Amino acid sequence: MLIREFSLGDEPHLAEVFYQAIHQTAAADYGPEQLAVWAPAQHDPNRWAERMRGIRPFVAELDGVIVGYADLQTDGYIDHFFVSPEAGRRGVGAALMQHILEVARAKRMTRLYSEVSLTARPFFEKFHFIVDEAQVVLISGVALNNFRMSKLLGST
Ligand SMILES: CC(C)(COP(=O)(O)OP(=O)(O)OC[C@H]1O[C@@H](n2cnc3c(N)ncnc32)[C@H](O)[C@@H]1OP(=O)(O)O)[C@@H](O)C(=O)NCCC(=O)NCCS
Repeated sequence: MLIREFSLGDEPHLAEVFYQAIHQTAAADYGPEQLAVWAPAQHDPNRWAERMRGIRPFVAELDGVIVGYADLQTDGYIDHFFVSPEAGRRGVGAALMQHILEVARAKRMTRLYSEVSLTARPFFEKFHFIVDEAQVVLISGVALNNFRMSKLLGST
């Protein structure tokens, strides 16, 4: 497995990972209406590309195929964290998280935080993130439950 920096041209592949991770993996915890507003079937590729160029995620490849991505912002915020369902539970997410932790420590960040889905909570807990708050977010008027989670660096 290769973890690398974002590069131009990745955007549509990341869109596919995002869509499938939500509509297949997160479908275990969210209903059809919630999935549809979280990852709409029709999206604007230019807006998506702009978003990815903004967050510049780390990209995971297996045999040359993009199977996951996750970002780390300068204040310790993790905005996106998605692994393609075909590659799920094979350590892709763990490799991305290890990379994020290494980069964060190298940059002397003190705290990581994210808004974590019901589906991803056990994964973040595995890496010793704790739930700060359960919350309900509204996307296009539809309520989705998730958790604000964080991890102090220097701890485990
Ligand atoms: C959360 C996610 C990124 C995890 O990616 P992954 O590559 O499948 O995770 P890994 O295989 O590296 O898992 C590492 C460990 O995390 C834990 N873990 C991961 N998924 C889990 C689950 N569904 N239930 C319980 N524990 C889980 C396990 O301890 C696992 O180790 P194990 O497989 O040896 O038991 C992926 O499931 C995903 O994309 N989910 C849907 C989208 C989503 O909700 N993204 C987060 C938005 S905040």
